[in-house]
Amino acid sequence: MSSTDIYREIILDYYRNPRNYGIIENADIFKHDSNPLCGDDIEIYVNIKDNKVSDVKFVGKGCAISQASASMLTELIVGKDFEFVKKLSKETVLENLGLPDLGPARIKCALLSLKALKYGLYTYLSDNLRDVESADKMKEEVQSLF
Ligand code: FES
Repeated sequence: MSSTDIYREIILDYYRNPRNYGIIENADIFKHDSNPLCGDDIEIYVNIKDNKVSDVKFVGKGCAISQASASMLTELIVGKDFEFVKKLSKETVLENLGLPDLGPARIKCALLSLKALKYGLYTYLSDNLRDVESADKMKEEVQSLF
């Protein structure tokens, strides 16, 4: 089995058995986002405690890559420092997914959840922490994701 096949199997497993699937009532961070071209969507919920991600969940519908990527993203950030999440790059997400060289059409699928997460962080930074400088940087980053 080639490494591409292995990653395909892993993605399908996350798609069929999504980890951290569900919602968090009154989450510190919540964001809904969708891909208007296909109608797929993601909702992401994050709780922050003592500067760490204490809980994260998602719900959504869509292609295998978008849903597996969201599920893997939740595993990547749970328990991590808030700073780690702020700095999380699209390259890290794509590598974690095992698809570092995705083409322009599928990259939107793979990064939909990261986009939702970063927009959620943007709101959290500006509204809750009143950290306008970090929020502005976050907004720029999201706009250049894809
Ligand atoms: Fe819709 Fe992938 S085809 S997000």
